[in-house]
Amino acid sequence: MGFSKEWEDTYAKNAHLSKWPWSDLVSYVYKYARPTVDSYTVLELGCGAGANIPFFKSLDVKYFAIEGSESIVKQLKEIHPEIAEQIQVADFTESLYFDLEFDLIVDRGSLTCNATGDIRKSLLLVAKSLKKNGNFIGIDWFSTEHSDYNQGVYVEDKYTKRDIQRGHLADIGRVHFADKTHLLDLFKDFKISHMEHKRIKGEMPDNSFTIASWNFVAGKI
Ligand SMILES: C[S@@+](CC[C@H](N)C(=O)[O-])C[C@H]1O[C@@H](n2cnc3c(N)ncnc32)[C@H](O)[C@@H]1O
Repeated sequence: MGFSKEWEDTYAKNAHLSKWPWSDLVSYVYKYARPTVDSYTVLELGCGAGANIPFFKSLDVKYFAIEGSESIVKQLKEIHPEIAEQIQVADFTESLYFDLEFDLIVDRGSLTCNATGDIRKSLLLVAKSLKKNGNFIGIDWFSTEHSDYNQGVYVEDKYTKRDIQRGHLADIGRVHFADKTHLLDLFKDFKISHMEHKRIKGEMPDNSFTIASWNFVAGKI
């Protein structure tokens, strides 16, 4: 299955162009994976429109990213010419592109756009590409308690859906949802040191809508 082509179409329509670093990602990096050495290397899986790039630049780390959408990568290379070679088009379920080991691999809402089997393939690559004592930080992995879990049709297993028609998960292809048991199973070859479940319920207007997601840190064993 791999990269959902819907993302290319989404960026072509100038949608989903998040430009500001995601606050949970900033907090998690500061709290659990603060760079300690000059040579600290970070790989972002699915950097999208580059929202998190200014944050990593401000930390003075060596930042790399892989992203499936050619058009958004072309734009990012123009915006960040000094790291153009470090941002590459690749399907992270197939390869992590760079022949390097990383101190930190981050994923804000990207692996969760893939089916369970492909996520497992990526996590094998992640485990191989992390340095000893390296960390994986996952932010905004959708939870089965998210209201949109009730939409769409199942693909592959009860954790992956497609054809979500309404709301912020519409038109992005496959979407993966996880409960705690499933996350622990996906990361059984890592050591999860921190895990949080967020539930944000709309109160005004009360549309009975809940955004629910997971944030976590998984260390290489
Ligand atoms: C919700 S966006 C998140 C973008 C960015 N991480 C952020 O925090 O703003 C998900 C991104 O993951 C990318 N993506 C999803 N599946 C992918 C895959 N298998 N290989 C490479 N990129 C993928 C999409 O193209 C999209 O840019």
